[in-house]
Amino acid sequence: MGDFGTPGPVIQVRGIRKSYGATVAVSDVSFDVNEGEIFGLIGPNGAGKTTTMECVEGVRRPDGGTISILGLDPFRDVYALQNRIGVQLQQAQLQKRIKVWEALDLWASLYTNAVDGDRLLEQLGLENKRDAWFMTLSGGQKQRLFIALALINDPEVVFLDELTTGLDPQARRAIWELVRGIRERGKTVFMTTHLMEEAERLCDRVAILEHGKIIDIGTPEQLVRRHCPTRTVLLATESAGAEERLRAMPGAATVTRHDARYTLEGQGEDFVTEVIQCLSENRIRVTDFRTVLPNLEDVFLKLTGHSIRD
Ligand SMILES: Nc1ncnc2c1ncn2[C@@H]1O[C@H](COP(=O)(O)OP(=O)(O)O)[C@@H](O)[C@H]1O
Ligand SMILES: [Mg+2]
Repeated sequence: MGDFGTPGPVIQVRGIRKSYGATVAVSDVSFDVNEGEIFGLIGPNGAGKTTTMECVEGVRRPDGGTISILGLDPFRDVYALQNRIGVQLQQAQLQKRIKVWEALDLWASLYTNAVDGDRLLEQLGLENKRDAWFMTLSGGQKQRLFIALALINDPEVVFLDELTTGLDPQARRAIWELVRGIRERGKTVFMTTHLMEEAERLCDRVAILEHGKIIDIGTPEQLVRRHCPTRTVLLATESAGAEERLRAMPGAATVTRHDARYTLEGQGEDFVTEVIQCLSENRIRVTDFRTVLPNLEDVFLKLTGHSIRD
């Protein structure tokens, strides 16, 4: 907690840099993660997300810059932090024939403050897999086990790196619910993802990372408002005179028509209301009405000039 009980930053990163030989993975990255939030580092593969996260975890030492986590230095205070942070294995493979309960027992033995493993399995919906071999678990079950292992020491800060990669949409949604549950228990989540939908649905705030640099930071809504203020309305009407009225709307930057279908574009939060008012005042009867709101994917495209999927 910061002064006066307001949640303060749990992680402070200032100007960190990291190169692998000639490859500059991270250059001059700074951000704060606040207590109790889900913070996402988002960007395409190779952007430097894992490198940044590993520096914060104390697994890698940055070439420059400073990091503070829970008021401590991740490198110098690695032992003091061990009981207070939880790290999910990335692409990790446990031994094929280790049983779920054995993995939890093993992890619990590494900490002085381990919580009840069976309770965790229940919370993560794995109680009936307690005696199963690791290799028999589905992708979603393996990820849930990795989350359980990351939570075994009841950490204050949890690190999750690309935790739904390779999962089907249903398993992905289930994992999102679990991550929200971690936040609800008062913990801070620091995660990475290259999936914009995941970031949009899960993260309270995101930092967009590309080529080792942060391009912008904010809530998904703030970033959309800041970079993609255009709102689009699609509607269909046979009403005579509709075109003239719609084109006369002061807020409509562009109006295009194909037969009875119209596409209207305008700026800002009030544009959709303005269209509805115009329709209502002029008694224009519509048979279809849809709004298209930009999302983080559009923000990424706007900021970098290319799609994150490229
Ligand atoms: N151990 C390593 N040795 C050499 N280069 C690395 C190593 N780890 C990552 N890189 C390179 O650093 C850049 C950033 O990688 P990474 O941090 O893994 O990005 P992300 O997690 O966003 O995909 C990439 O160009 C990657 O190839
Ligand atoms: Mg990565």
